[in-house]
Amino acid sequence: MKKIPFTLLFLGSLFYASAQKKSTDQKVDSVLRMMTLTEKIGQLNQYSGGDDDTGPTTKDGDKHNQIKKGMVGSLLNVTGAKATRALQEIAMQSRMKIPLLFGQDVIHGYRTTFPIPLAEAASWDLPAIERSARIAATEASAAGIHWTFAPMVDIARDPRWGRIMEGAGEDPYLGSLIAAARVKGFQGNGLGNTNAVMACVKHFAAYGAAVGGRDYNSVDMSLRQLHEIYLPPFKAAAEAGAATFMNSFNDLNGTPATGNKYLQRNILKGEWKFSGFVVSDWGSIGEMLNHGNVRDSADAAFTALTAGSDMDMESRCYKNNLATLVKDKKIKIELIDDAVKRILRKKFEMGLFDDPYKFCNEQRENEQRNNIQNLLAAKIMAEKSIVLLKNENNILPLSKNIKTIACIGPLIKAVRENLGFWSFQWQDDTVKIVTVWEGIKNKVSAGTNMLYAKGCGIKDSSRAGFAEAIAAAVKADVVVMNVGEAGDMSGEAKSRSNIGLPGVQEELVKAIIATGKPVVVMISAGRPLIFNYTADNAPAIIYNWWLGTQAGNAVADVLFGDYNPSAKLPVSFPRTEGQIPVYYNHFNTGRPAANDSDVNYVSAYTDLLNSPKYPFGYGLSYTNFAYSNISLDKNIMAATEKISATITITNTGNFAGEETVQLYIRDMVGSVIRPVKELKGFQKVFLQKGESKNVSFTFSTADLRFYNDQLQYNYEPGNFKIFIGGNSVDVKEKEFILK
Ligand code: NOJ
Repeated sequence: MKKIPFTLLFLGSLFYASAQKKSTDQKVDSVLRMMTLTEKIGQLNQYSGGDDDTGPTTKDGDKHNQIKKGMVGSLLNVTGAKATRALQEIAMQSRMKIPLLFGQDVIHGYRTTFPIPLAEAASWDLPAIERSARIAATEASAAGIHWTFAPMVDIARDPRWGRIMEGAGEDPYLGSLIAAARVKGFQGNGLGNTNAVMACVKHFAAYGAAVGGRDYNSVDMSLRQLHEIYLPPFKAAAEAGAATFMNSFNDLNGTPATGNKYLQRNILKGEWKFSGFVVSDWGSIGEMLNHGNVRDSADAAFTALTAGSDMDMESRCYKNNLATLVKDKKIKIELIDDAVKRILRKKFEMGLFDDPYKFCNEQRENEQRNNIQNLLAAKIMAEKSIVLLKNENNILPLSKNIKTIACIGPLIKAVRENLGFWSFQWQDDTVKIVTVWEGIKNKVSAGTNMLYAKGCGIKDSSRAGFAEAIAAAVKADVVVMNVGEAGDMSGEAKSRSNIGLPGVQEELVKAIIATGKPVVVMISAGRPLIFNYTADNAPAIIYNWWLGTQAGNAVADVLFGDYNPSAKLPVSFPRTEGQIPVYYNHFNTGRPAANDSDVNYVSAYTDLLNSPKYPFGYGLSYTNFAYSNISLDKNIMAATEKISATITITNTGNFAGEETVQLYIRDMVGSVIRPVKELKGFQKVFLQKGESKNVSFTFSTADLRFYNDQLQYNYEPGNFKIFIGGNSVDVKEKEFILK
């Protein structure tokens, strides 16, 4: 490919050089002054490059020509240093030579695929999560990507919603910390470094609360719930310096988020002083016609821009209407200028005006392929994400010297499935995905005999393979099964009304358990599934989620005890779909059930327990942790004071292990009612066999604040309870009074 020397590239735009010593804002202004209205609107226009469309494709054979005319500010879905360079070269032929921004959904790794975000959240390990995002950014930026559409920070209480896989689960506190860690990871030491990509915090806002868990559906909620549960992770991400935000497909209380002034102007750009830019979601400006809050595409463009959506992803409403709206004096040029400036500022901060090709480096791109350090980090992250749900009679960890192990199930030898939704590895078959079968094979002794039977397909209704699977189980000393969803059964537009194990897989589990052999069931999925038979009858259950490139190695480390599982569920697992939404931080109601069997005129189902199958924060280890001696340094706290809670934790089992100690609070009486528990802190502690440690949490009134009915964020004096434990249910408690 012909390279254009930089000196030539910039001959026509010497003003950039003279702007060198100016502040970024001055540079932005000097560029803006020279732009025509068409060029300004061009900056607000984003197209899919079409490598792999991530939304409904719009036929447009004229994109290159439009780039040359300065009518496109950004492209998404362009893969590789070579392809991004070729398109940037076209942009450099435009009059203003404003570089394109290349965006992509780099959600959980780029070439090296890490566990899905929900799985990573189960690690509760912020440095590891930050590192995962850091590596994703390093690999993506080497392939010409400037901008990832991540992190998704939507709180999700409904596992029917397929995009629950992409976030950090149900809790605003954990979700906020993870949101900030991911932003820091993506943006590294700051925009301008060639290994940093801009984060895009999405979907602003409340997309996770879609009615019925059906993707793209409406959202209706109180402003208190919005501020208290759904907005905190967005705020945390903005405070962590996120460069951009994406709005969302849903309407919120009757106004589509894309055209929602309250969200974008009042809260994000107003109250939170966010100085980056907001991109719409794919086509969401045009989709307001379907929502029914705008008359036509001009009205959609007007509504979205006025509400604070700066860039139009794929709807073409801005491109087709903004010029007329300005000429007709319906939109002030200042509004367009503000959006353009926000985008140009980021292009300057990324250093693209100095070198539009700085991210297109094929050598760097190649160095990131099968990078050993990245693969190792992916394995460690995968180990930290695996949740041990059950381990009766300590059947796990398995011995590496088992004589015969039967490996059964449709996912044992699955390859691509391990990556889950939003993965790009398929584009590059030089990157090796380690299957569970291979992981086990690498781990067991030379004398171990491994038997394999698929048993059934993931979604099939055929039981034809059961007999072979039963025969393998009968011959084995131990059976390891891997069942679950296909990698694309959770994700965008993947809502399911029935979230059981698909097809006849649970029947297969039943048939294998009936052999009487010791059975370990591993479940791979992008969401909490419902698997009551397995939960109640399998002696050991491991929840794998989707673990990425190194899935098999990580799983084998856990199965055979080279890694002692430590993950904790970031979301409650329901007993049946009828229980959804089930979440730990609910209100008490006026008629709370005394216990799970209380149905006497209380808030309960007559045919179902209230408690989830597995609670938030739950996860076992190969060892046991005992909690004792909970204490507070004071029983009465003044508003100016801090209070400390301490608990002793002892490793009473036979393995060294890591525990996530969780602190919850309940405000007993409030001017508005408060949840029965709210996570307010956690610490990870590693304990040798027999070791004890004291763990302390210190907090102040800042941690006791909530939104009252006037949406004022403050604390109120009164009685509080604190709870400490290894999950949201098994806790020790103490009370204190805030004066
Ligand atoms: C639609 C999704 O909602 C969004 O999260 C994603 O970033 C865009 N498509 C671009 O692929």
